Amino acid sequence: MEWKSSSMLLFPVQIIFYTLKALFRMLLPSKRRDLRGEVVLITGGGRGIGRHLAREFAAQGAHKLILWGRTEKCLKETCEEISLSGTECHYFLCDVGNREEVYQQAKLVREKVGDVTILVNNAAVVHGKSLMDSDDDALLKSQHINTLGQFWTTKAFLPRMLELQHGHVVCINSILSLSSIPGAIDYCTSKASSLAFMESLTLGLLDCPGVACTTVLPFHTNTEMFQGMRVRFPQLFPPLRPELVAQRTVDAVRTNTAFVYLPWTMRLLVILKSFMPQCALEEIHRFTGSYSCMNTFKGRT
Ligand SMILES: NC(=O)c1ccc[n+]([C@@H]2O[C@H](COP(=O)([O-])OP(=O)(O)OC[C@H]3O[C@@H](n4cnc5c(N)ncnc54)[C@H](OP(=O)(O)O)[C@@H]3O)[C@@H](O)[C@H]2O)c1
Repeated sequence: MEWKSSSMLLFPVQIIFYTLKALFRMLLPSKRRDLRGEVVLITGGGRGIGRHLAREFAAQGAHKLILWGRTEKCLKETCEEISLSGTECHYFLCDVGNREEVYQQAKLVREKVGDVTILVNNAAVVHGKSLMDSDDDALLKSQHINTLGQFWTTKAFLPRMLELQHGHVVCINSILSLSSIPGAIDYCTSKASSLAFMESLTLGLLDCPGVACTTVLPFHTNTEMFQGMRVRFPQLFPPLRPELVAQRTVDAVRTNTAFVYLPWTMRLLVILKSFMPQCALEEIHRFTGSYSCMNTFKGRT
């Protein structure tokens, strides 16, 4: 009983301490982890943000890189570029939406390259249509790739990280997981469940020494994924450069940061959503153009 009351008293002190510590960390340069010796696997590593992640992990000294994807041409190109820069790189054809293929390719990776110590779940697709205009199979495909794919890759590589007491699971999520838009219902749903997956995993690994998670929530980024999408004030809300997303992601891994909003101002969305009435939020969506930004969407052509 005595223990309970003292820990009750300690609890608010701890909360204040950790909040101040986090604020302090934002102001002062943090200690960065050395990536030498790390074996990094990036799903969707052949192009877009994935290709920039491969470049950045290599530039920051990762020991080996493994790229997964479905299109051999871009995987090979990226792999050759990374190898030329002096970092060992391998690629494997793997559809992350196919559970059996993920387990088979993970086994092959372990045999041919070794234990993966940083897993980056980056692969995703967007169908870009409303619910009624969407083909059922296309809707299923986004959930299989964007959400369930992460279940299979994490199940394939996390057990060994736990054994080694050394590992990191990274998820390239999206700000759309917190604030959905019409016309991308498949994508927003998959990203919201992927965020729940990462929140649960991050908390679940709290008592596992040496193993941690990072979730990155970027705003619209200049790749082929959302080609054609138009926001109303592009000068005010310019798309992010994929290089920047990659740099901030690798830095978050090195500083062991759990959640990263890109840009950080996107945190305001969460605050606004927590207290504003729905009719006011709807006006914000109309005014900023997020309500209609998918009308011009073309996607990957
Ligand atoms: N672009 C944005 O505005 C934006 C904003 C926020 C977050 N994000 C997120 O950032 C991540 C990367 O997106 P991006 O912009 O770089 O898009 P992208 O250029 O379309 O790249 C997507 C990558 O995922 C791979 N991929 C797709 N389906 C796959 C599957 N079934 N199995 C394995 N790999 C698969 C693709 O390779 P293959 O086609 O060869 O398989 C490609 O390498 C995604 O998670 C996305 O949701 C993007």
